[in-house]
Amino acid sequence: MINLTINGKQYTAPKGQNLLQAALDNGIEIPHLCYHENLSSYGGCRLCLVEVTKGGKVELTTSCTYPADQGIQVETNTPKVRKARRLMMELILPMALNSPKIQALARELGAECLPSPSSKKADGCIKCGLCVRACEELVGANSITFSSKGSERKIVPPFEEESEKCIGCGTCVHVCPTGCITMEDLGRKRKLKRWNRVLNMKTCTKCSNAYIPTAQVDFYLNRTGDAALEDWFKVCPDCR
Ligand code: FES
Repeated sequence: MINLTINGKQYTAPKGQNLLQAALDNGIEIPHLCYHENLSSYGGCRLCLVEVTKGGKVELTTSCTYPADQGIQVETNTPKVRKARRLMMELILPMALNSPKIQALARELGAECLPSPSSKKADGCIKCGLCVRACEELVGANSITFSSKGSERKIVPPFEEESEKCIGCGTCVHVCPTGCITMEDLGRKRKLKRWNRVLNMKTCTKCSNAYIPTAQVDFYLNRTGDAALEDWFKVCPDCR
């Protein structure tokens, strides 16, 4: 453990833990959109900016990518930090104007919606990459990826076509901070519109409800090699 100062108060944190998590663990809020404690840090949204003083040098940096170190001083709410976050939010806002969560955060940070080229193509995705990292690091399916660069950068399935790699688990839906990835269960089919993916659902042998994509069951069976799981998946959680 190391000692560090946040907003003038002494705290301890595991050495190397990112500053954002160290602050959150100590009850200090820092706005963030592209960070999840169970995923690698990406530093994409830049809302988690803080001022760090180390060895006499002060720098404005993203707290989700900065490792906690002995004796550093962190300021999470200076005028410079607030201004930088507001400017970042003004870049993000036009991409997800209809997202209630983004609207609320923009209000909190004092950001206004300024005319931007991105607002014309806005589809709610802020390119935070949480869905990509969740699919890769939590699920292990690797079914979505970043494509193109600059203003054309987007998140898509490989070749922008329906990908067999997507198992329809919905992890991307749950981590998306803007709600722009949706999942719909229609009888025996599950649809993830954003990824052009339609999956067949497995039905429970007791209640006949469709409750999990067959691709997700197959994925678990292949991954674990545990044949006993086949019986487990015959019955839905409600009937188990
Ligand atoms: S949460 Fe740190 S850059 Fe997005």
